[in-house]
Amino acid sequence: MSTGLIEVKNLKKYFPIKSGLLKTTTGHVKAVDDVSFSIKRGKVMGLVGESGCGKSTAGRTLLNLLPKTQGQVLFKGQDIHALNRKENKALRTKMQIIFQDPYSSLNPRLPVNDIVGEAMLEHGIVKTKQEMHDRVVDIISKCGLFPEQATRYPHQFSGGQRQRICIARALAVDPEFIVCDEAVSALDVSIQSQIINLLKDMQEELGLTYMFISHDLSVVKFISDDVGVMYLGQIVEMGDKKSIFTTPLHPYTQALLSAVPSFDPEKRTGSKRILLQGDIPSPAKPPSGCRFHTRCPYAKDVCKTTVPENKEVQPGHFVMCHKVHGVF
Ligand SMILES: Nc1ncnc2c1ncn2[C@@H]1O[C@H](COP(=O)(O)OP(=O)(O)O)[C@@H](O)[C@H]1O
Ligand SMILES: [Mg+2]
Repeated sequence: MSTGLIEVKNLKKYFPIKSGLLKTTTGHVKAVDDVSFSIKRGKVMGLVGESGCGKSTAGRTLLNLLPKTQGQVLFKGQDIHALNRKENKALRTKMQIIFQDPYSSLNPRLPVNDIVGEAMLEHGIVKTKQEMHDRVVDIISKCGLFPEQATRYPHQFSGGQRQRICIARALAVDPEFIVCDEAVSALDVSIQSQIINLLKDMQEELGLTYMFISHDLSVVKFISDDVGVMYLGQIVEMGDKKSIFTTPLHPYTQALLSAVPSFDPEKRTGSKRILLQGDIPSPAKPPSGCRFHTRCPYAKDVCKTTVPENKEVQPGHFVMCHKVHGVF
């Protein structure tokens, strides 16, 4: 396997479930359970899956915003969970995150100038307030805002504009890697395409590497080079965008894709929507064997008892499924 800017190896993140007066740990929510992948420099990895499958937890643990339970995350070969405070501070500028809700992630009492500029001053990227202001104006203009908007406050902007501020703030510290966690999910569809275009333009112009998290497959399809499909804390299928979208192999990926509305009438008649049976099981008690067996239309006995291998079926295309691997 070639080395990437980001290398994730067998990453696990469990949240303890506490109960009773003594708050004893009675179990764990296995939000991320043995996930491995790598992202090459300058590439966008999309991460899709239903709500609650562990996408945000994966993104946050990857950035060391949450401590890991097990495994390793390497950024340019450096184990990010094993850094001292000073190294961690330096790394903070290199790895950024953009959240879904631009309003709650912006301090309402600060003007854009300070919101975007604060971290630049703190990390010594600029030395003076004037230098900071000049650079803020430059960055917000690149993100589609006007220079005079630097003095305004978050409530004076629309949702799309606020997300532009968040993008400007992330870009201000010269990052190399950005996790976009549902970054356009809260926006109106027409605004969504403007913001996603901005994210893509910036990524191409600055040679950035993204992990792009979304439950919306059409958004992921637009921006990603590679796609990972997550189910109950695991990546059940991963590959380049073309293989995932044209020849999805995992029954879960096939079901997810069949649910995407198509505007192409030919495609619409050709493919049938696959309805998944049952609810998504609890990540505190994931099903034995293949985690998807309780909802899989093809499940056989072996699926209930044995965990499928995560095998490469074509170069770069990994699938966790007994049926795909010819076990039955
Ligand atoms: N801080 C936390 N404490 C306990 N459980 C959590 C915490 N954060 C997330 N979870 C649980 O972990 C699972 C994955 O959540 P999340 O990563 O937010 O999924 P997604 O982003 O795919 O919707 C969910 O069952 C969620 O309830
Ligand atoms: Mg999430």
